[in-house]
Amino acid sequence: MNQTNELITELANKYGRNRKNLLPVLQGVVEQEKFLSDDTMIEIARELDLPAAEVYGTATFYSFLEYRKMGKYVIRICKTITCAMKGKNQILLTIQDMLKIGVGETTTDKKFSLLQTNCLGWCHKAPAMLINDEVYTELTPETVRVILTEYIKK
Ligand code: FES
Repeated sequence: MNQTNELITELANKYGRNRKNLLPVLQGVVEQEKFLSDDTMIEIARELDLPAAEVYGTATFYSFLEYRKMGKYVIRICKTITCAMKGKNQILLTIQDMLKIGVGETTTDKKFSLLQTNCLGWCHKAPAMLINDEVYTELTPETVRVILTEYIKK
C-alpha cells in the first residue's frame, strides 16, 4: 500500500465510511498532499464505497482541483478495459479532433481539459466519460460530437 492509500484509509477510519464523510476525507488528503490526483480520487471512492463520479463532483464543487489550472470543463474518458474494448479510442480521437488538444492538455481559451481516467463504475454502459461531474455513457463518435457541440456553445 502506498503512502497516499494509507492516508486515505487512516482518514476513513477517523471520519467514517459514508457519503457525509467524503468532504473531511478530501480535505484531509488535500491538506497533507497539496494535490489530488485522479488515482487518489478513485482510491477515495473505493475506500468509501462511493461512485467515482461523486468524488470528482465534490472535489470539483469545492475547488480542490483549482490549482491544477484545468479548463472550465474537465473531460475524463475512461481508459479501463471494458471502455477500451468498446471503442474508447474512437471517442478520444473524436474529442481530440474537435478540440485540437491531446490528453493532459487544455484548450487555449481555457474552456476544456482532456484527461483519461480509470474505471468510472459505468462499465455496463461503456464507453463512458465525465464532463465535470456529469456522466455520459454508451458513447459513439456521433453522440460525443453532439454532446461536445452543446458544451462549446455554452
Ligand atoms: Fe470504463 Fe468501467 S471500464 S466505466
